[in-house]
Amino acid sequence: MKYLIITGNPKQDGLCHAVTEAVKKGAEAGGAIVDVLNVTKIERCHVCGTGWGTCREKHSCAFGNDGFNEAQAKAHEADMLCFITPVYWGEAEESFKCFFDRLRRCEFDMPWGKQRDKKPAFSGKQVLLIASPGGSGNGMFSCLEQLDRFCRHTRAAIFDYIGINRWNNDYKKQTVFEAAKAMASGRKNGDSI
Ligand SMILES: Cc1cc2nc3c(=O)[nH]c(=O)nc-3n(C[C@H](O)[C@H](O)[C@H](O)COP(=O)(O)O)c2cc1C
Repeated sequence: MKYLIITGNPKQDGLCHAVTEAVKKGAEAGGAIVDVLNVTKIERCHVCGTGWGTCREKHSCAFGNDGFNEAQAKAHEADMLCFITPVYWGEAEESFKCFFDRLRRCEFDMPWGKQRDKKPAFSGKQVLLIASPGGSGNGMFSCLEQLDRFCRHTRAAIFDYIGINRWNNDYKKQTVFEAAKAMASGRKNGDSI
């Protein structure tokens, strides 16, 4: 199983990084091969044409050479995922938002143009959502709601929502470890335990 962690964290240390490591260890403990995709260098959507560009018919971005194409390919290869972002202004970190703005357009789960043999990247895949507000602790819900909306647009199957901050990370790091491990071990949404 390929477990992909997508994050938009500009830091190499701190809370969000520690949480990412805990997810990674949990997924590995569940037997997955884990990759971390940090999207902080990916540009924003150019909003081509009159609103839709090649994203609509070709399901790829006309400006994808900035690293977006590779990131999109990784999303397709993954069997399950975790989205983890620091909370900025009660929302996901800016590059994370920009990446998902572009990906959502390309992966929008309507008729996939003429490529009906290909499935959208996240359709039916389990995704763990984690928001990490490190300052006031505010904005956890609004950020998770934003991640939820992205999953609705791409038909991802949300496994769980976890908010983790400065004063709960001792026990919530354990929670994210266990959540990733449970996913990687084969627990499906809707399974009773
Ligand atoms: C521009 C900016 C806006 C932020 N907005 C919030 C916020 O709305 N709520 C909050 O609790 N923390 C906020 N923070 C703090 C980050 O959430 C915090 O840095 C993040 O959780 C990651 O923690 P870490 O820096 O230890 O990895 C903000 C940080 C920045 C740089």
